[in-house]
Amino acid sequence: MTIGAHIRRLGLNITGAALLVATPAAQAEAQSAATPPMGWNPYNVFDLNYGEAEVMAQADLLVSLGLARLGYVHVNVDDGWWLRREDDTIRVRTTIYPSAALPDGSTSLRPFVDRLHAMGLKAGIYTDIGLNTCSQRWRPRTPNLPEGTVRQREVGTYGHHAQDAALLFARWGFDFIKVDACGAADYGADVKEVRDGTFRAFTPLIVRERPQRSDAAELARQYASFADAARRGASGRSPLISICAWGQADVNDWARRYGQMSRTSFDIAPTWDAMLFNFDSAASRALFAGPGHWNDPDMLEVGNGAFDGAHLTAARAHMSLWAVLAAPLILGNDLRRMTPEIAAIISNREVIAIDQDPAGHQGVVVSRDGDGQVVAKALATTGHKAVALINRGTNPLTLSVELADLGLSATAPTTARDVWSGETRAVRNGRISVSLKPQETALLRVEGRPAEDNVDRPADLPARFDVADAGYKAPDRTPARQWVLAQIGFRPDGQPLMLDGVQDHAGLGVTAGSRIRIDLAGRYDRVSVDPRMPGKANGTYLIRVDGRMLAEGVASPQAHPIVLHVRDARQLELIAPPPSGGNTQFAWHNLRLTRRVTTRS
Ligand code: GLA
Repeated sequence: MTIGAHIRRLGLNITGAALLVATPAAQAEAQSAATPPMGWNPYNVFDLNYGEAEVMAQADLLVSLGLARLGYVHVNVDDGWWLRREDDTIRVRTTIYPSAALPDGSTSLRPFVDRLHAMGLKAGIYTDIGLNTCSQRWRPRTPNLPEGTVRQREVGTYGHHAQDAALLFARWGFDFIKVDACGAADYGADVKEVRDGTFRAFTPLIVRERPQRSDAAELARQYASFADAARRGASGRSPLISICAWGQADVNDWARRYGQMSRTSFDIAPTWDAMLFNFDSAASRALFAGPGHWNDPDMLEVGNGAFDGAHLTAARAHMSLWAVLAAPLILGNDLRRMTPEIAAIISNREVIAIDQDPAGHQGVVVSRDGDGQVVAKALATTGHKAVALINRGTNPLTLSVELADLGLSATAPTTARDVWSGETRAVRNGRISVSLKPQETALLRVEGRPAEDNVDRPADLPARFDVADAGYKAPDRTPARQWVLAQIGFRPDGQPLMLDGVQDHAGLGVTAGSRIRIDLAGRYDRVSVDPRMPGKANGTYLIRVDGRMLAEGVASPQAHPIVLHVRDARQLELIAPPPSGGNTQFAWHNLRLTRRVTTRS
């Protein structure tokens, strides 16, 4: 029976966005960005008050300070580069990009891109998925806004995908593009500047205050079309696409198919609370990131405001949190003005290595209790984890983590190296405890042994998960507190996932009706799982392996542990029963994947 037939039989309502299938072109895009992109972007420090001179000065420093060698190679122009749209091209503002003025009177960013390439760097540019931009709507008095008639000021890419891709990638040679979304969010017919004729109306695909009213399927189609055009326009090269839809319009469902990084929240600011807000917005989405598709909590503020040279503890914390998430490391500070201590923070090789670990697993929240939070990231070597112990508050705090909660043996020899101080932290009785100053994060590289030999648990392989919506819509919430379709160790509403009175760190709290695919890659012999619906239920769950139904059962509050034999299988699918009787959550408890062991005779 096909998945579609099953879904129909169960009455599941898998929606348009969930069923969007990546085109071959978009899939090819996802092959790039094997580790989170690293680079520099002007917006946090310059807003729109910058041009070629400022960008080149920073690019020079990326090279001369050795940052490029550490991986910071993407130099990304943000909003404010364009002057106006003219038929098949976009005119560049040559007052701030003088090298763009060509002798024949036309403009081109090719000389700018060529200079970056000659320095061994990559060049990034910016557009909007709608007709108009963020700055046009939100900062009407900022310099460097597009000029001309209503149509000429429509510099966004809507309706111009092929044309813009040919210009930006083939003619000018850009390697990266941030595709913002204010044009698809903030130009509804009721907006004053639309009513007075300043801009044309664009029916919002993102409804900021009422996320449930967003047209996720249409927004996904626009990004899909842009991704296809980008690859064609780049004639075989694969420009990276940074989707900037702020975690809205169900981006978890589709962004990974059309971009290599996807923003999870609104803009960061150089304050402690703003940094934590953006961190939280990405931290709940570990099952939606992996090689080729990274959650993006926004550019770094290290070196700025509450993270400047006078706030080194907070600056190290911010850097630690982005690294443990496997977030893109896009610097947002003025490299001309940073102190040596800030330079040392962004250059810490061990921290960068955690972010760039080749397995590409995002860190998973292990616990959160008051101001204390623990996040652990599985590293490529079995039994190795990067562990962030975070003091979110303004008082000193002692924080502990149990090796057992990390899926590690409490008795095997285990080391914990603090990557900021270089010190070894004590591991006693299967537990690591640290004393933290206000706003301090200890980032540890923990090297131990898995609790069970040859067994992987979800937190060991989040990058191998693919989660799809089945149409259930949670109530409207602010983005960071949005219902998350599936999480490890937590329910979709953010509460700890409990099993027999303790948090189930090996369980998945999921939305009723969701479908989870796990890439088994032929590595496992057995899978065991314990499906449970906490309350009243009348639906059926399904478990499929390589398309074959291996288990089906009526969901109930009782445990029904299941063991599946999966030798050589490529894919496991866990399909939760549909919501029923007001019950919208389901759990796949205690999920264990037993690796295939090849014995030599
Ligand atoms: C939006 C984006 C920011 C930045 C500005 C530029 O707010 O989220 O990252 O690109 O637009 O105007």
